[in-house]
Amino acid sequence: MNCIHQTLQQKDTRIKARKIWLSIQRYWRRFKMRSVSRRKCSCASFTIIISLFLIYLSGLYQYALTWSYDTYYVHLGPSDPMDDLIKDFLDDKETEVRPVNEFLYSYTYLNQEKCETKDSVRLMYVVKSALENFDRRHGIRNSWGFEKRFSDVEIKTVFLVGMVPGKLDVQKRLEQEISDHKDVIQADFLDSYFNNTLKTMMGLHWTYHYCPNVKYFLFVDDDYYVSTRNMLRFLRDPANYPQYLEKYVVQAVNEYQDELFAGYVFSRSRPIRWIISKWYIELSEYPYSHWPPYVTAGAYVLSRKSLERLYIASIYTNNFRFDDVFLGMAAKKAGLKVFHHDEFYFHPRSYDREGYKWVIASHGYDDPKDLQNKWNEQRSAGNA
Ligand SMILES: *[C@@H]1O[C@H](CO)[C@@H](O)[C@H](O)[C@H]1NC(C)=O
Repeated sequence: MNCIHQTLQQKDTRIKARKIWLSIQRYWRRFKMRSVSRRKCSCASFTIIISLFLIYLSGLYQYALTWSYDTYYVHLGPSDPMDDLIKDFLDDKETEVRPVNEFLYSYTYLNQEKCETKDSVRLMYVVKSALENFDRRHGIRNSWGFEKRFSDVEIKTVFLVGMVPGKLDVQKRLEQEISDHKDVIQADFLDSYFNNTLKTMMGLHWTYHYCPNVKYFLFVDDDYYVSTRNMLRFLRDPANYPQYLEKYVVQAVNEYQDELFAGYVFSRSRPIRWIISKWYIELSEYPYSHWPPYVTAGAYVLSRKSLERLYIASIYTNNFRFDDVFLGMAAKKAGLKVFHHDEFYFHPRSYDREGYKWVIASHGYDDPKDLQNKWNEQRSAGNA
């Protein structure tokens, strides 16, 4: 019985195998007969492989996995109500909630005298500069950073730098510069591009603690053109600049007077999921579909009150690689609105004498000679 059963089974298997073999042959014959469709087929599989690869590279599948910013965004760091924390902080009260992101590096050159003035300072330039950019700082002092630009407006300029270990000659040269100008602030961390957020934190920390009498701060990179004249005009009436200078404008209620955080704003941009990009962001690092609104970090202006709120929010926000996005997160947390103005140029504005009439700040001036020439021309024309 068992034996018969086995034979039947074997027979069955043989028949099945034969059937499969026959169908393979059939397909193969069909395949061979139509060589055109064979080419089509290999072309199709090639396309599929390439598109899968592109989908991977473009991070398209990641876009599909992001969480909606509008629905799910939560703050990074402690989620306690910021208003209470800010109030306690400003009143010097102890709070239970510990900051998560304080600036803890020590200053090698503090130069706090810069802010010890009798009169209140209208505008302070806080320039993020790389330690070795001696020429750019020189160019800035001789153009928009010149503190005596207007006899009746108090303006100050300071430069923020880190350290470059092992380069004693560079440090020597910096010390000479500091004793000549007393406007460079140095802290003990590595001066590198990817420590940018640290330098931003240093700027907020230093201004918050040492400059209570400054009304507005422009945080700006050392490769910018800035028009001091237009900057001051802008601050007089941010919402109506420059129209209010050209024709009579019924003074709009200026809601930005003491709370101002302005510059070139990206109000709703997406994180880059394109894997080979320098700005690629993994889902695990930031899972949402959009960034909070943020001001690009090259040039942004803060009133003293906004600076205080932003600084306190920033130490309660987890550190983030991109400094402008980081400040956007902190601003959102502090309930600060960001204000966009077209005359802050994040993409370099190409120079022409007339076209620069209302420019407040423009990126793209890494040559100090060029900066000074153009700035001088604009000053002569009454625009800087
Ligand atoms: C930032 O500075 C710290 C302190 O000097 C250093 O340990 C770290 O390597 C720096 N990070 C980068 C990315 O350069």
